[in-house]
Amino acid sequence: MNGIKILGTGSYAPEFTADNDKFSEILDTSDEWIFPRTGIKQRHIATDIPNYYMGTKAAEKALESAGVTPEDVELIIVSTCTPDFFYPAMSCLIQKRIGAKNAACFDVNSACTGFITSLDIAQKFLACGKYKNVLIVSSEKLSQQVDYTDRASSILFGDAAGAVLVTSSDKSFCSYLRAEGDEFEALYCKANYNTNCPWYGDIDKFYENRFDTEQKRNFLVQDGKAVYKFAVNAMADAVRNAAAQGGIELEALDIVIPHQANLRIIEKATELLGIPGEKVYTNIEHMGNVSSACIPVCLDELSKAGRIREGMKICFVGFGAGLTYGSAIIET
Ligand code: UT7
Repeated sequence: MNGIKILGTGSYAPEFTADNDKFSEILDTSDEWIFPRTGIKQRHIATDIPNYYMGTKAAEKALESAGVTPEDVELIIVSTCTPDFFYPAMSCLIQKRIGAKNAACFDVNSACTGFITSLDIAQKFLACGKYKNVLIVSSEKLSQQVDYTDRASSILFGDAAGAVLVTSSDKSFCSYLRAEGDEFEALYCKANYNTNCPWYGDIDKFYENRFDTEQKRNFLVQDGKAVYKFAVNAMADAVRNAAAQGGIELEALDIVIPHQANLRIIEKATELLGIPGEKVYTNIEHMGNVSSACIPVCLDELSKAGRIREGMKICFVGFGAGLTYGSAIIET
């Protein structure tokens, strides 16, 4: 079988934290509003470091816990929707910092679904037999896109990175990835390019000025209700389809690690699937939503707590801007 074995995990969260009370100092909001609706108490904010610094730290820890040297990494896949540069890819910056001089590098952007997408890609690279050690790093600095005057979105997001070092195994792997591009306006952050090309016409007309207004320029824009509605069914759908592909009964799943967007979304989706709460891991209370880094950071916490054992079926499920969604199930 073309499975994936997790050899090591690592994560990094910046020191500075903003709890709900800090938000009520800058916005008309409160812990009484935020916590019951989202499950979030605090998030980490990278006040003085770039995104790739967090990714590097998580990558170094994953390599250390795997006992694999940087020179033995053959591929680095970074998932991020908040890169420091348009190019080069963040994977190249991390490659330089960790000294993985024999690695191929590329980045993946399927927003919060990015870790699951990267895992699925890694499995294909490993299955072809040419690659042995693949490093996946999910690193996100949402604070550089969040509009801190928008109380409905800013309270959700934080900054962090998670990493895993994977190799092939003879266990099972199944996955399901989808996207609903029609719904992209529910969550987006428009890229900011120069407009000094002398032959440009009125390019804003193309966007009907919808995505480039003064208030929206450079910021994450979200229709929270639309994303919420999409997320519950998309997560349930993705898990059902991934499990069906692998012939796995949902009762056989040992741990479900969902994207940490909103505790209510997680509870509704897993309730639809009939998966009991004790099998569902969350860290949203102390991390908030760190986009594609949510799942590998959770995995690292579980791993450090000694909760990942041989022969377990672990289900990852997520959704995000795109709107993308997906699930992957690995056997440890
Ligand atoms: O990784 C991807 C992620 N994104 C998501 O998963 C987002 C999914 N959506 C959600 O989690 C929820 O929609 C939110 C938590 C973002 C918002 O909750 P909601 O229950 O959908 O609130 P709403 O935006 O419909 O707003 C309801 C009311 C409004 O007041 P009025 O117009 O009824 O007077 C808002 O202005 O709550 C108000 N409100 C707040 N009040 C205090 C919105 N945000 C806040 C806030 N503090 N932070």
